[in-house]
Amino acid sequence: MKKEFLVDEINKLRKEKNAIILSHYYQEPEIQDIADFVGDSLALAQWAAKTSADIIVLCGVHFMGETAKILSPQKRVFIPDTAAGCSLADSCPADEFKKFIEEHPDHTVISYVNTTAAVKALTDIVVTSTNARQIVESLPVEEKIIFGPDRNLGDYINKLTGRNMLLWNGYCHVHQQFSMDKILELKKRYPEALLLAHPECPNYLLQIADHIGSTSSLLKFATRSDRKQFIVATEAGILHQMQKDNPDKLFIPAPPEDSTCACNECFYMKMNTLEKLYACLKNETPEIFIDEEIRLKAVKPIERMLEISEKYGL
Ligand code: 13P
Ligand code: SF4
Repeated sequence: MKKEFLVDEINKLRKEKNAIILSHYYQEPEIQDIADFVGDSLALAQWAAKTSADIIVLCGVHFMGETAKILSPQKRVFIPDTAAGCSLADSCPADEFKKFIEEHPDHTVISYVNTTAAVKALTDIVVTSTNARQIVESLPVEEKIIFGPDRNLGDYINKLTGRNMLLWNGYCHVHQQFSMDKILELKKRYPEALLLAHPECPNYLLQIADHIGSTSSLLKFATRSDRKQFIVATEAGILHQMQKDNPDKLFIPAPPEDSTCACNECFYMKMNTLEKLYACLKNETPEIFIDEEIRLKAVKPIERMLEISEKYGL
């Protein structure tokens, strides 16, 4: 189907159905361009909680759709492709995480938003990469904490805060596999370039980064910086907004280890296409459903995250 046709139809359908289209920064450029709002995981949750639309189409991965549904159960929530999962969320099955928690009964449980609803239901506070530091620091220093599932983000927050949180051994396949050698080569080729990295990257890479932050933080930093060149170590979808907001600057995607490809893409995020977005709005499927017992447990740690974030102006 032609892009113009899809764009026209999507625009008609969203008006007719009072639907809002929310997109993560890692989505295809044409999805980002048609979305009502593009943002990071925290911002998508905040939008889902406050929108007055009847329908939310979440262009992102499954846990993002689940988070929207947990926060807005009275709304119908769709994602263009339900197979759009997340390797990080997959690295933390709820039954195994429950066992881990039971082995450390006196710990507060913090979970990254990249988790299933079932894992959130076992959690005391949810965090994203935008608010993880502030949320951990809002807890008393002596509090024992379990942090899951991202070992890299957990290790980074431990180092930033001086805490000793117990870490679940999970990681994101995209952020884990950036090539240090290829990044060092790029740094030689572009000596003026600053390295921007997402905290899901391993510590050896974060150590040489000039700025570490969530997708929105990397975008903000690049926009405010006087520098003209940036090597970007996160999923390559973010380059679209970076380039759009800064047409005079050069953004170079950090390459992965095991490929001839120049950039690193999240296979799951890229499952959503403009055609699937159109079909999803038109046919009102695939829809996200969550067991009410799980939802009632999962909503508490997400609301706690939103309250603390608001207090810090995040
Ligand atoms: P952000 O919250 O920084 O957008 O990260 C989401 C994500 O999935 C990173 O891989
Ligand atoms: Fe999950 Fe990694 Fe994809 Fe983010 S980039 S959605 S953490 S698999």
